[in-house]
Amino acid sequence: MSIVLAIETSCDETAVAIVKNREVLSSIVSSQIAIHRPYGGVVPEVASRHHVEMLNDCIDRALTEFGGGWDAIDGVAATCAPGLVGALLVGVTAAKTLAMVREKPFLGVHHLEGHIYASYLSEPELQPPFLCLLVSGGHTSLIRVLGCGEYETLGSTRDDAAGEAFDKVARLLNLSYPGGPVIDKLAKIGNSRTFPLPEGRVSLPEGGYHRYDSSFSGLKTAVLRLVQKLEGEEEELPVADIAASFQDTVARSLTRRAINCALDYGLSKIAIGGGVAANSGLREHLQAAAKQHDLQVYFPPLKWCTDNAAMIACAASEHLNRGHISPLTLEVRSRLNLTEVMGLYR
Ligand code: KG4
Ligand code: ZN
Repeated sequence: MSIVLAIETSCDETAVAIVKNREVLSSIVSSQIAIHRPYGGVVPEVASRHHVEMLNDCIDRALTEFGGGWDAIDGVAATCAPGLVGALLVGVTAAKTLAMVREKPFLGVHHLEGHIYASYLSEPELQPPFLCLLVSGGHTSLIRVLGCGEYETLGSTRDDAAGEAFDKVARLLNLSYPGGPVIDKLAKIGNSRTFPLPEGRVSLPEGGYHRYDSSFSGLKTAVLRLVQKLEGEEEELPVADIAASFQDTVARSLTRRAINCALDYGLSKIAIGGGVAANSGLREHLQAAAKQHDLQVYFPPLKWCTDNAAMIACAASEHLNRGHISPLTLEVRSRLNLTEVMGLYR
């Protein structure tokens, strides 16, 4: 049993949380979304500066909400990869400093491992093996989780990540950043059958199609062509119907791949992680398909789907419970394969 304070600054959320295994004792998330919105995406330098400005206050608030004091904390963790290097450096430097001053072990955490463990925060009984469908702004992966630090990536995307596709299509439709929540909202009032769109498949050299890999570039181009055609006809753009048709296509595509993968590998549990797990279309499709195949599907509450530090603290406590500790010389990495996670620890 361990209590971990974790810091997450890999992208545009400054977050600090204190977690006891799977129990969240405090969680603070300060989002920079409004700051980056005018640019239509995250500006790395702006993100790093805001992390510096916000982090001390977030740490203070997390400690106040926790109320247990430093004596009760067993370790200090921070996301160290993958992500924006300057942004990661802010959180990792702060965590290392706190670990040194307070004489606690330091743990670097892989951001995607955090998303995998988000399900643990609401599912105290969930244990590996299970399949994790990780769908965020930067990743679309199907990961076989065999144990702490034991991951196998079975599927990924050949081009855009699912969240990135939502953000880019939203931009095509003149909607605000980030696109996922806006499209999700519009999709609720639109008709998903208005525009049939291509799901996007990845061909195999030997013929046929990949059962787990996704591709969203064709779908994005199809939406672009549709918008150009409709604008050419000088009609008012049926934005809600386009949003609903696009969302339904993405949800069907992700559901098909996740179910294929779970059935092929004999995994009866699917845990969802990442910002796109918040998507109502994906939730509906996946829940219905899982029921049909007698599979169990776990969707964390929305606050644990998007970036937060509680999931990072949960991953860190899984490692700390097994005696995994990172050296204070650990460096941040913009990219790091999930299979290399154990290299973060001594
Ligand atoms: O996991 P996350 O917070 O950050 C990354 O690590 O990338 O995911 C952010 C992504 C964005 O692309 C955003 O548009 C998408 O998650 N997203 C959604 C929804 N809420 C957030 N996508 C679809 N439907 C949503 N409701
Ligand atoms: Zn994330």
